[in-house]
Amino acid sequence: KIDAFIFDLDGVITDTAEYHYLAWKALAEELDIPFDRAFNEQLKGVSRTDSLELILERGNKQQDYSDVQKEQFASKKNEHYVTLIEQISPQDILPGIKELIDDIKKEGIAIGLASASKNALSVLESLGLRESFDTIVDAGKVAQGKPHPEIFLTAAEQLHVDPAHCIGVEDAASGVTAIKGAGMFAVAVGDGSILSHADYIVHSTDQLDFQTIIRLYKEY
Ligand code: G6P
Ligand code: MG
Repeated sequence: KIDAFIFDLDGVITDTAEYHYLAWKALAEELDIPFDRAFNEQLKGVSRTDSLELILERGNKQQDYSDVQKEQFASKKNEHYVTLIEQISPQDILPGIKELIDDIKKEGIAIGLASASKNALSVLESLGLRESFDTIVDAGKVAQGKPHPEIFLTAAEQLHVDPAHCIGVEDAASGVTAIKGAGMFAVAVGDGSILSHADYIVHSTDQLDFQTIIRLYKEY
């Protein structure tokens, strides 16, 4: 029995993971810290402040800046990110996602969002998807970020469903860990070598097929 699908946002519903990457890369380079896509994988699903700490740590510069300076860096990254997402429209919904949401709805299954981003609601609204979600849990509503399961457990609780009857969809290693920690079936989109702890992995969102996911969940 499946009660709910709980989706991550950035990199699953829309390609904002790329914008987070570009904005962090610009800041890191300004601070003379090397930044590449492999390192960026560690930042996916991770909060704004924790991401900044990981970047500074990578450059051995954690002690070089005051808390006030760190806040300024985080704000600068966010201002850049916000300019990058300004143009987002329903056309930016990743391939296959609309179809998957429609199939889930047709079966009367609930849909939740579990995003670590403070910009989640604004992105969903730009995509025209606000009404498709029965509940939205974002960074403001949980104490512990991914890989802690709290955000997925909170979404299940708000939907009044058993986590064991939920399917989580993620593109981040930390997110897959959070889904598994919540006792849910984990579907991952992306690189199998990074997301190998998921129960089912696809390379891109257009491969997310409702019937296939349901079949694998039942066999699980
Ligand atoms: C998501 C993204 C992360 C991002 C985090 C916080 O989890 O995957 O890359 O750092 O949200 O986003 P925010 O918009 O609050 O800075
Ligand atoms: Mg993501």
